[in-house]
Amino acid sequence: MDIEQIAVIGAGTMGNGIAQVCAAYGYRVTLIDIVPKQLERASASIQRSVEKLHSKGRLTDEQREAAATNISTSTEITAAADADLAIEAVLESLTIKEKVFAELDQITRPDVILASNTSSISITELGAVTRRPQQVIGMHFMNPVPLMQLVEVIRGLETSDETTATVVALTEKLGKTPVEAQDYPGFISNRILCPMINEAVYALMEGVGTVEAIDTVIKLGMNHPMGPLTLADLIGLDIVLNVMNVLQEGLGDDKYRPCPLLKRMVAAGHLGRKSGRGFYTYD
Ligand SMILES: NC(=O)c1ccc[n+]([C@@H]2O[C@H](COP(=O)([O-])OP(=O)(O)OC[C@H]3O[C@@H](n4cnc5c(N)ncnc54)[C@H](O)[C@@H]3O)[C@@H](O)[C@H]2O)c1
Repeated sequence: MDIEQIAVIGAGTMGNGIAQVCAAYGYRVTLIDIVPKQLERASASIQRSVEKLHSKGRLTDEQREAAATNISTSTEITAAADADLAIEAVLESLTIKEKVFAELDQITRPDVILASNTSSISITELGAVTRRPQQVIGMHFMNPVPLMQLVEVIRGLETSDETTATVVALTEKLGKTPVEAQDYPGFISNRILCPMINEAVYALMEGVGTVEAIDTVIKLGMNHPMGPLTLADLIGLDIVLNVMNVLQEGLGDDKYRPCPLLKRMVAAGHLGRKSGRGFYTYD
């Protein structure tokens, strides 16, 4: 099936980035969110990002034009009816995502692939609320979407080879690199990243090193672009805690237990950049 029209559901951080990239690469996009203000914010943010990338020579004149003209917005999920592919990027909640998938299953043509940008929810479980689990798949874009190269392509238990091949080909057409992963808690990315961050928080709690020392060792010693505590502040400590809970529950191994200091910081509302305070303080 040729994909021309893509519905992106959820116009937050990830949804607007996904919509921007799809539009710049020539797809017509319907960006859907139940909150009108989020659609306004998304449009402004896409415009800013496109101008910046264009001024740096990372988008051609044609791509800039395409990004400006290819996106329409709606507050109704029924606007996904004409889509050849739907990419869901709503809040990380199983209940909300299951509802969205059940609705998309009713609204879209039976041959349409339904993808989720989830960081940790089971693709198999999302597929199970539809009548087309073979066409349900994970498309895990990284933040910020226009800049990051990777898309983790997650196969649920029922996801077909055909669906996977279509999504891999689409990812390449978007100028990104797809990597296939199986549907186990945290997939590949968060299975490895979040325990590393959690271990850094243990090292801090136990006084092995200061915040700066831990970040500097990993940055300069391992050549990571930023230290794990800086990265935790960027991702959001609540998100890291949520992933650790998913890993511990889903894999049943105590090695994934969230660090008590991480739990305390989340309880105190020290969530990182978004709350102004995490391991570092922000203006
Ligand atoms: N932020 C990241 O760094 C990151 C990275 C990779 C994957 N993800 C995943 O992407 C998804 C979205 O994350 P985000 O950071 O963009 O969240 P966000 O909070 O910025 O945006 C979520 C949006 O979904 C909308 N929404 C909620 N319910 C909806 C519904 N029923 N229909 C339509 N829209 C609805 C909200 O109004 C909001 O605009 C999550 O599953 C998250 O785990 C996030």
